[in-house]
Amino acid sequence: MTENCDLPDALIAALRDARHVCILTGAGVSAESGVPTFREAQDGLWAEYNPQDLATPEAFVADPALIWRWYRWRRETVASVKPNPGHVAIATLAERVPQLTLITQNVDNLHQRAGSRDVIEYHGNIFEDRCFADGSLRAGDEQAAVPICTDCGSNLRPGVVWFGEAIPEHAMNQSGSAAVDCDVFLSIGTSSLVYPAAGLANLANQNGAIVAEINPNPTTHAANFDFAIAGNSGLVLPELVDCLAH
Ligand code: OAD
Repeated sequence: MTENCDLPDALIAALRDARHVCILTGAGVSAESGVPTFREAQDGLWAEYNPQDLATPEAFVADPALIWRWYRWRRETVASVKPNPGHVAIATLAERVPQLTLITQNVDNLHQRAGSRDVIEYHGNIFEDRCFADGSLRAGDEQAAVPICTDCGSNLRPGVVWFGEAIPEHAMNQSGSAAVDCDVFLSIGTSSLVYPAAGLANLANQNGAIVAEINPNPTTHAANFDFAIAGNSGLVLPELVDCLAH
């Protein structure tokens, strides 16, 4: 270990030498901001629903007003919280390495609000409205129970990727290229259960990158990675940035 640094020396050394660092984040990175992770039980109004049953195109077709109520509630939740030290550390790390690609499965904008730029939004962005018919970006009427596309009259939908839907092509391509090209890949705060995002760490591994996971509950993939740091991202990431500086 480096003096005053509890993280593995070899990981810090790999980050110091890295030409290109690639980071994949999941809901755990926003947990310390107060956003419930995807697989945690929901509180209050929505406790009786399973998020996996609401986040599908079929659920939207069956009851668009219900799905809009859920997403507006989630928009309010994420708009009312702040980025945490983990988000800030990732934005800082981007300034300390030659190239950093940040891929997030989160739809909450917290990386951007912490100062990260060019974030690859793998599962979309909850604050966007899109036409259900053709996916184009629209500005919806926030007062309407179900906002309508002024061009074609279809319902608008939240701009997130639902179960059974394809990842946006540009996000898929850029993430795949970054995973292949990077020399260090960090998988942070994700259960690594949902593909294709969960395959990116393995892709990086197969292409020679050092791969580390940061998660208080090591995932089933951890044994295949070079490092599994069992800890909260809001603590581990600032420490990692600090270790790099000394
Ligand atoms: P999950 O809710 O599946 O997993 C969150 C992970 O964060 C778990 O492994 C926790 O152990 C970990 N975690 C909790 N607190 C943490 C902390 N403070 N620091 C670091 N890690 C922490 O969320 P995701 O893996 O992001 O997709 O879920 C992936 C996708 O599944 C989501 O983007 C969503 C969902 O289906 C879509 O909606 C398409």
